[in-house]
Amino acid sequence: MAEAEIGVIGLGVMGANLALNIADNGYHVAVYNRTVSRTEEFAASAGALSGRITACATLEDFVAAIRPPRPVILMIKAGGPVDQQIEALRPLMQANDILIDAGNANFRDTMRRFETFEGSGLSFIGMGVSGGEEGARHGPSIMVGGTEAAWKRVEPVLTAISAKYKGEPCAAWLGESGAGHFVKTIHNGIEYADMQMIAEVYGVMRDHLMMDAPTIAAVFSAWSTGPLDSYLIDITAEVLKVHDAATGRPIVDIIVDEAGQKGTGRWSAIESQMMGVPATAIEAAVAARSLSAMRAERQRAESRFGVPMQQDRRSGQEVITDLEKALLAGKVAAYAQGFAVMAAASKEFGWSLPMATIARIWRAGCIIRSRFLGEIAEAFAEDPAVPNLALTPAFSAMIEDTDASLRRIVAEAALNGLPMPALSSALGYFDTYRRARGTANLIQAQRDFFGAHGFARLDAEGEHHGPWGGQG
Ligand code: 6PG
Repeated sequence: MAEAEIGVIGLGVMGANLALNIADNGYHVAVYNRTVSRTEEFAASAGALSGRITACATLEDFVAAIRPPRPVILMIKAGGPVDQQIEALRPLMQANDILIDAGNANFRDTMRRFETFEGSGLSFIGMGVSGGEEGARHGPSIMVGGTEAAWKRVEPVLTAISAKYKGEPCAAWLGESGAGHFVKTIHNGIEYADMQMIAEVYGVMRDHLMMDAPTIAAVFSAWSTGPLDSYLIDITAEVLKVHDAATGRPIVDIIVDEAGQKGTGRWSAIESQMMGVPATAIEAAVAARSLSAMRAERQRAESRFGVPMQQDRRSGQEVITDLEKALLAGKVAAYAQGFAVMAAASKEFGWSLPMATIARIWRAGCIIRSRFLGEIAEAFAEDPAVPNLALTPAFSAMIEDTDASLRRIVAEAALNGLPMPALSSALGYFDTYRRARGTANLIQAQRDFFGAHGFARLDAEGEHHGPWGGQG
């Protein structure tokens, strides 16, 4: 008998927690996993919620267990597995059923899948879900892309399971086709930048101020009550406090310094470049993860070049005060860039991405949730068409307040050989962005010299060429 109102395919960490969250919110949910033993294990561990869970061993049973029209959430590994699952599921689905891909899909795959569903009577939604395991279980941030009609039909369940910020659901329809997965990708790009800049600041405290992990933890804890108040700062303080049971040492001190990455940060950087919108903090963060992975080469380079001698330094407190502001300045750059990329994508793909709404649904549930996002939501609500966050009154004031600190920290890092790729790229971005007369006039002259590419003149209309001794 079909009693489930919704189905979830994929009972890995995220899928299992999402299914429990759905059941917790009063919905009856059918579940299916390719490995049947996992489905059985999940059903056996559902406890009090098991009455609202129908565990299915086959896809046929799964589809039959859901009342039509069926919303089906796919929470499986992005890429090929999603296409294979769609292929297996599609013949079993009926008119008006909705397939929702909730994994970290590349939005270009989502656009392609969305197109193949158009006119079929079925709907396809690409849904970004952020918040990790805890978010999936108790309320993630949900970024939906698809037709508005399909969204309307799943809005009640998605808003019910989403995180709430002061009662407001952190779930929204952001546009057609790949809009939801694009926004999730940029969320992750910003997440990379946030994490990298935090790591750079940690590096200054560890390698320049020679602070130990618990002392650094205390600094992050203090910052979490100020303008940097955010989930990532909170968990940074938490992880720095934890000691390894076997050695008694802070666990961070024995974790290998090689960062993993599954692709979303890289896609953000690539798409930004494709659209010609600089996202230097995100690009630097992705590159820093790649450099981190070259551990053997870094070890070889250090034995060849050594580490620069530390210069006389300012008092620890002075540096720490500047670090807090530098981190805030870097955050302004990273978010200004991320939102500018989304604005460009919105035009390119015809999505009308609602910037203030995006900032609002990131205020709770997701990994980059922070006080700062509330300020971004307000800035976009006041001026939805502003080309760059840096130009809004609130963020201009923040830049003025933090600029000197960022400058001192980047300079100090350069003099002491402390790696600071993301924060220094943020400074380079600001300095380039705010200069009305840049240096690209010289690049234009060079291009014209070697390739007759032409240039514009300040004092005349049209395209011109230089008098390059007959070579222009
Ligand atoms: C989230 C996260 C999540 C992502 C991890 C790991 O919003 O919940 O962004 O979706 O998968 O952060 O990503 P990397 O392995 O690329 O660091």
